[in-house]
Amino acid sequence: MIAGIWAEDAQGLIGSNGILPWFLPSELQHFKQTTMGQVILMGRKTFEGMHKRVLPGRTTIVMTRDETYKVADEAVLVFHNPEAVLNWYQGQEPESAKDLYITGGAEMFIAFKDSFEQLYRTIIAGEFEGDTYFPKALEMTNFKEVSSVTHPADEKNDYAFTVKRYEIKR
Ligand SMILES: NC(=O)c1ccc[n+]([C@@H]2O[C@H](COP(=O)([O-])OP(=O)(O)OC[C@H]3O[C@@H](n4cnc5c(N)ncnc54)[C@H](OP(=O)(O)O)[C@@H]3O)[C@@H](O)[C@H]2O)c1
Repeated sequence: MIAGIWAEDAQGLIGSNGILPWFLPSELQHFKQTTMGQVILMGRKTFEGMHKRVLPGRTTIVMTRDETYKVADEAVLVFHNPEAVLNWYQGQEPESAKDLYITGGAEMFIAFKDSFEQLYRTIIAGEFEGDTYFPKALEMTNFKEVSSVTHPADEKNDYAFTVKRYEIKR
């Protein structure tokens, strides 16, 4: 199963200067719970925005066109084009195949727009400053919403947010 997972604000903003525009611990917890034990893929800019910190308990794929790019961690695989990722993923043993989560940024949602079977979209009830928006090239009308859960703001999370899950229309 290949899924997209991201958080956007009320205007579709997803990034600011290489990092997330907000700090919402409960939203990060949702990301962790959803992706734990699976494969997460991110663009080189997102990886470097995290100071190359590798998230534990998951295989990480970093995408770059730079053939010389190296990451000194065996939990990280580096790929140079989406086709190579999809070939690698389809070659996994079906019994042990993990889910592949495309986690951003915007360039990754474009690169894999025709591969998503599910989407995990968090909508944050706020407006932030930033420079990177969720791409319009990913046609949300191809997906049907199957669940929607709202988390209210609380002492640790300044904004309410809603996690929506979508499945591709067949
Ligand atoms: N809100 C969220 O859920 C969320 C999630 C993830 C990221 N973000 C934010 O999004 C922003 C970054 O997004 P972004 O779109 O600018 O960058 P990005 O998708 O993280 O990374 C872009 C890089 O990926 C590589 N790349 C792109 N297309 C490729 C392809 N077809 N084949 C191989 N490599 C490819 C290139 O690396 P090279 O230049 O090395 O060739 C490109 O510069 C950051 O602010 C980040 O915090 C937000």
